Amino acid sequence: MELLLMSNWTDVQSTPETYVFPPDKRPGKLIFPDCKDIPTIDLEKSEGLERAEVIEKIMKASQEFGFFQVINHGVSQGLMEDTMSVFQEFFGMPAEYKASFYSSGTNQSCRIYSSTLNYHKEDFHYWRDNFTQSCHPLEDHVQSWPEKPTRYREVTSTYCVEVRKFLLRILDLICEGLGLKLGYFEDELTKIQLLSVNHHIPCPDPSLTLGMPEHCDPNLISMLHQCAVPGLQLFKDGQWLGVEPVPDAFIVIAGLQLKVISNDLFTSPIHRVVTHTKDKRTTIGTFLIPSGDFQIEPAMALVDTGNPPVYGAFTYKEFFSTFTGKDCDAQSALGCFKKQLE
Ligand code: OGA
Ligand code: NI
Repeated sequence: MELLLMSNWTDVQSTPETYVFPPDKRPGKLIFPDCKDIPTIDLEKSEGLERAEVIEKIMKASQEFGFFQVINHGVSQGLMEDTMSVFQEFFGMPAEYKASFYSSGTNQSCRIYSSTLNYHKEDFHYWRDNFTQSCHPLEDHVQSWPEKPTRYREVTSTYCVEVRKFLLRILDLICEGLGLKLGYFEDELTKIQLLSVNHHIPCPDPSLTLGMPEHCDPNLISMLHQCAVPGLQLFKDGQWLGVEPVPDAFIVIAGLQLKVISNDLFTSPIHRVVTHTKDKRTTIGTFLIPSGDFQIEPAMALVDTGNPPVYGAFTYKEFFSTFTGKDCDAQSALGCFKKQLE
């Protein structure tokens, strides 16, 4: 197991064959243009006279990109830095310690693995380690989290609570923008919260490897907190574009369930992660996920005879088993729930 986790590797001089993707799947080059026009939302402004403008900007960004950056999001710079360093330290801990969290199952409150949960079945491995922990409600999960580094539980508990508040504020603004009743996204649609941290060691040849496959996020809404090392890319207008990290900003990504609820008004962006030659990269993701049994469907307020529902109702559990069972990507799985056009 110890060598399965890339964070235990030292002195990587060449790219092992099982990490080299076939030519049609690999990035193929090292330099990509940056996505210049990703909207930046100043969340502080949503509390004042400019609330309507902020909502409009979020609505436009969600339709065009399904993706935006947020500044003045309410999570302090100190907490962001502490959390990033706690995870960087965690990935640097001795192999035996990390091994105690190793699992390729999905039922644990927290787990570490490399590439994907299918490591032993996949033809090619992604250049990453991942650590995931369930975090809502805190008291149900915190006991199973790592106790080292020393401040791990204290720092990540506060972070999880603060980031949840932040994402719920964004969802409130989306709710207003879509004209849905207040609290539409509370409870069942955001019942599960996962913190999922990607860690990539430097790669000798990023043109051959991928840190994460191209995908749409299957959940409701996601937040990414990037370190200063780039790697995230967005597929937009037929090309891959780099997402330059903005210091102290959070990235918000509309998941496929938000696309369904908006009746395809919103986009759920295709994104992936490429690797880097010089530096380690750590990204902390927070994912809000509906409870498995809850019925998801286009919001009633957004459909009428002129604008019929694009999807039938389904539970997140049904969606997720289609997605994992068919071994396809989440976006294709969503196709199974589309209504036939009459
Ligand atoms: C994800 C994701 C991007 C990153 O975890 O779904 O897209 O930069 N992560 O790690
Ligand atoms: Ni993603």
